[in-house]
Amino acid sequence: MKLILLGPPGAGKGTIANEINKKINIPVISTGDILRNSIKNNTKLGKEAQEYVTSGKLVPDDLIMSIVEERIKDNDCQNGFMFDGFPRTIQQAIELDSLMRRLNTKIDQVFYFEASDSVIVERLSDRRVCAKCGAIYNLNYNSPKIENVCDKCGGQLFQRDDDKQETILNRIKVFNKETLPLVEYYEEKNNLTKINADLDLKIRFEDVWNRLIKLGLVGK
Ligand code: AP5
Repeated sequence: MKLILLGPPGAGKGTIANEINKKINIPVISTGDILRNSIKNNTKLGKEAQEYVTSGKLVPDDLIMSIVEERIKDNDCQNGFMFDGFPRTIQQAIELDSLMRRLNTKIDQVFYFEASDSVIVERLSDRRVCAKCGAIYNLNYNSPKIENVCDKCGGQLFQRDDDKQETILNRIKVFNKETLPLVEYYEEKNNLTKINADLDLKIRFEDVWNRLIKLGLVGK
């Protein structure tokens, strides 16, 4: 099964991807996570991406495509994967289509998480992420049992550099300009499902899961 999770920053793409992953063990490919790890490890890619990521701009398409192409060749991707935060421009979507054709496969479904700006700003300002395992928390909705410590692995929680109010607003602007046109792109291909991302996590996950069952992509 090959899925795309599309939506503005803070819509909950990463959270839902992790929930799906708990049920069926297919990898989540988050271009954002790959970029942040490269920045942390000071790799060549990290150095090239740093200024874009910290200011909330998009990293150039050619860099993103080379990351994706390399990642989906890994063994763990052979039975499927979920893209979280990719593609983000029409150019990336067109290049992904041709990559899928070359590999003789296709994207099964695109989930578009619609969220209002006020919800996004609130969620992202209160988001904390585990430095060790990447688990996502929210100080309002799902706070850790011990302050700043991950429930799952005991790692230290941190706030992402791009989760500052000013950068969040810029990320929303960039999303509306560069990424929103992808909704129409995938609607025309007839493989897009819209999910109301303002709702409670449990309801949203049920929506996604029921859709996957209907499409025959997972068992009941
Ligand atoms: P990326 O890491 O992809 O960030 P993003 O798309 O902005 O998305 P987020 O990770 O912020 O949000 P999310 O939707 O996953 O929300 P989450 O589940 O964490 O990209 C970062 C940067 O990398 C970009 O700005 C760009 O520079 C670069 N980049 C990445 N990919 C690129 C590409 N393809 N092309 C070019 N550049 C690229 O949830 C958010 C919070 O809300 C959490 O605290 C969570 O606990 C909470 N929450 C979630 N759902 C609910 C709910 N239903 N109710 C209450 N709280 C909830």
